[in-house]
Amino acid sequence: VAAEVDASAKALATPDAVEAFRLHWLGRKQGRLKAISDAWLKSAPVEAKKLIGQRFNVLKAAIETRLETAGQASHTHALDSERIDITLPGTERKLGAEHPLIKTQNELLAIFARIGFSVGVGPEVETDYYNFESLNFPPGHPARDTQDTLVIANQERRPLRDRLLMRTHTSPVQIKTMEQQPPPVRIVIPGKVHRNDAADATHSPIFHQLEGLCVDTNITFADLKGTLDYAMKQLFGSSVKTRFFPSFFPFTEPSADVQISCPFCGGKGCRKCKHSGWIELLGCGMVDPAVFGFAQQKQPAYDPKKISGFAFGMGIDRIAMMKYGISDISLMYSGDLRFLEQFA
Ligand code: PHE
Repeated sequence: VAAEVDASAKALATPDAVEAFRLHWLGRKQGRLKAISDAWLKSAPVEAKKLIGQRFNVLKAAIETRLETAGQASHTHALDSERIDITLPGTERKLGAEHPLIKTQNELLAIFARIGFSVGVGPEVETDYYNFESLNFPPGHPARDTQDTLVIANQERRPLRDRLLMRTHTSPVQIKTMEQQPPPVRIVIPGKVHRNDAADATHSPIFHQLEGLCVDTNITFADLKGTLDYAMKQLFGSSVKTRFFPSFFPFTEPSADVQISCPFCGGKGCRKCKHSGWIELLGCGMVDPAVFGFAQQKQPAYDPKKISGFAFGMGIDRIAMMKYGISDISLMYSGDLRFLEQFA
């Protein structure tokens, strides 16, 4: 029988062959070993049992040794066929990229963080009170018409101040911030704003603003100028100049529009600045005492006789378009990967 084991153990190259070998010899019901045991061991006379038993065990051990070595060999063989070729190039995994708007927004937040401005947020759906009334746009005031407001439907039965709309600017967060915390305040608030504007290369019904608010004792227009001049130099380079023009916003007095010297031509005049050498970039002013009056309803410390402040608002989209040379604002909202991948 030992010769038989040797013979049948010759071709044990595959896992299937090893399993067939195991079944043939050790199978519980029809294995050869079971048959031998039944035929010889069980019926053997007592005096022969010991010797037969020993031989039986030698045979069994021989079969098991065969199985073990064959098992290892066929396993290695199987791994051979599955072996990984480490010289093949790997699967490319694409990394996402920051959207140019978020990139610009983060850059602005970092610039203002360096001079002590913290970051705030506010809701995009706002009440008439926060978007207009508390910012000194009384009901029926003509300045409301300049905002191209998108209103939420079916609000007519509510009192005007509670009616919901899509915020047209981030300025409502000025009042909301002051209601939450007494002065001093130094905060910037980025966020989406909405206007009923027809979309074209430079207009989108959704765009982004960065609001700024600084309130303390003795804040002056010089602080406002210094802050914005610093921010524009950080953003566009130290050779950029700023200039301030009289303007009007209901919630600031005096108000100003700010222009920067064209960063593309250094102020000499080019197509980007319509050959004027200057680009208008933001609105700002000293917080109107009437606005402090609304804040005082919740925080008495906003007493316009004791404190003063400045506020500003800038369009993040326009700044991003200037910084990255983007000519069509709709690209910002298209989700087109061919556009977005350029910022990776
Ligand atoms: N909210 C103004 C706008 O959207 C910008 C602004 C903010 C002006 C703060 C003055 C002060 O045009």
